[in-house]
Amino acid sequence: MAIVLSAIIGSVVLALSGCSDQSGQTEKTLRVGVITYSQDDPFINALTDELKAHLKTMESEERRIIVSIKSGNDDQQEQNEKVEEMIDAGCDVLCVNLVDRTAPYRIIRMARNEKIPVIFFNREPVKEDLMQWDKLYYVGCDAEQSGIMQGEIAAEYINSHPEVDKNEDGKIQYVLLEGEAGHQDAISRTEYSVKTLMKNDVSLEKLSYQFADWNRGQAENRMNRLISQYGTEIELVLSNNDEMALGAVEAYRKVGYIRKDWPVIFGIDGLEDALEAVKAGEMQGSIYNDRVDQAKEMAKMAVTLFEGKDLDQESLKDGRYYFSEYKKVDGSNIEEYLNAEEEEADGKNMEP
Ligand code: BGC
Ligand code: CA
Repeated sequence: MAIVLSAIIGSVVLALSGCSDQSGQTEKTLRVGVITYSQDDPFINALTDELKAHLKTMESEERRIIVSIKSGNDDQQEQNEKVEEMIDAGCDVLCVNLVDRTAPYRIIRMARNEKIPVIFFNREPVKEDLMQWDKLYYVGCDAEQSGIMQGEIAAEYINSHPEVDKNEDGKIQYVLLEGEAGHQDAISRTEYSVKTLMKNDVSLEKLSYQFADWNRGQAENRMNRLISQYGTEIELVLSNNDEMALGAVEAYRKVGYIRKDWPVIFGIDGLEDALEAVKAGEMQGSIYNDRVDQAKEMAKMAVTLFEGKDLDQESLKDGRYYFSEYKKVDGSNIEEYLNAEEEEADGKNMEP
């Protein structure tokens, strides 16, 4: 009896302390601290949900994984303080979605002092900063690719639907909704979607470019103003993301134009509401920003770094960067993406 009891007490103590028992078995706890730039960004929330789900699947008898998610509330100072709290609470790996991608310095210094690897995601620090220490990584996408793809699907649609040119002047009058000044995705998406349309023989006339902070409500406001200024003249809306494209959709729903007076509208991200809008014909396409792949990679990196093993160098650029591939979504493959979305909601976690 005494022996059994001491064995039980022994194993409880071992489980709590995470040390090896006599048989060489270990139970370790990986604490992942995730910090986003804002708690109100649907793409970021979908990405962190995926990350949590993937880390859960990587638990085993030997390894518990605890994930804590906080937001910087759009304030770099506040984000720095929250990172400090996470470090003090004993986190092993940090996943950081910077508020200001040009200001990672304090976070890097704090993490480096405590030897805690940092996986930056979605908001890319400049290379100089990422190269400050060899335990800094970045997971995201090549924004230029999304701009090119958006330009391609828009050009394909316009070239095969002459009615898009409502006033038949041979030019497409367009407005562009931009994410956020200084964000690598906003800059490249704007530049390359326009360039690609022109390269694909669409002649464009720019009516207006508006920043709307990646946000649906702000985009709706901007769009309302543009509609009162230009009325039915607007033939194309290019948006740096789906949320803002959906803001434009909302503005057109409310203003009550008949469908043939609407412009064609293109977004980026492939979030569920946008997929529904593509299916309903209110948007003509989106570019899938592969949150499942990005989350999987971050989860894999976090575990590998925690175990002190080497990362798979083949999939990394310059040993530090992982970029997911974007994919085109339009009327031709929308069902595939909607089905994948449903299966994901049912917990099957499938990629299209
Ligand atoms: C996404 C946006 C998101 C932004 C946040 C972009 O990659 O497409 O939807 O708001 O990242 O940083
Ligand atoms: Ca026209």
